[in-house]
Amino acid sequence: MDKENLHIIPHQHFIKREDREKLNGHKGLVLWFTGLSGSGKSTVAGLLERELHARGKSTYILDGDNIRSGLNADLNFSEKSRTENIRRIGEVAKLFTDAGIITLSAFISPFKSDREKVKNTVGAESYIEIFVDCPLEVCEKRDVKGLYAKARAGEIPNFTGISSPFESPENPEIRIETHKNEPEECVKQIINIIESKLKL
Ligand code: ADX
Repeated sequence: MDKENLHIIPHQHFIKREDREKLNGHKGLVLWFTGLSGSGKSTVAGLLERELHARGKSTYILDGDNIRSGLNADLNFSEKSRTENIRRIGEVAKLFTDAGIITLSAFISPFKSDREKVKNTVGAESYIEIFVDCPLEVCEKRDVKGLYAKARAGEIPNFTGISSPFESPENPEIRIETHKNEPEECVKQIINIIESKLKL
């Protein structure tokens, strides 16, 4: 903690997380998608959110490209910036969870230690890691945004999978394979696992 922060004493408000969860009719939860660019994180998160919303759940998506256009517009793709990117998202996810919302976050989040920190920040019982496991060759072939071609041509430095590492999760709560299953199938797989965790 910075010296200047020593005299900050958080206020305890009347309405607590449990009260908001009760109002929402389900628990707050963080669904943390991690995987290479183009692996399908945003696609699956979007479909999952639509399904949860249709079932009356309160949701919100935090998405790499969107957050990096606003809150984290000052960050680049150096290791230090990625770590700060994920730290801030972890703090935002913690606030959303406290609001009793199901947060779906879609960031490459390539470093194990950063994901571990998020888990500690939001609390292990509220954190579900979803590894969007798709081989680099497939992501590169898809190249939806044309970024892999640019990275190969040396136009984008520190590109995950090409010139910057991705540390695969060893024990994710959920592992989906978007190169083998349709996104809708992956959504079903996730819902089956999280249903019981959402119950009050
Ligand atoms: S993270 O590594 O810090 O978690 P994040 O998910 O926020 O990354 O952003 C990844 C997105 O930024 C990619 O999907 C891609 O569209 C874009 N991007 C731009 N430059 C890079 C890069 N050097 N490496 C990876 N993704 C990049």
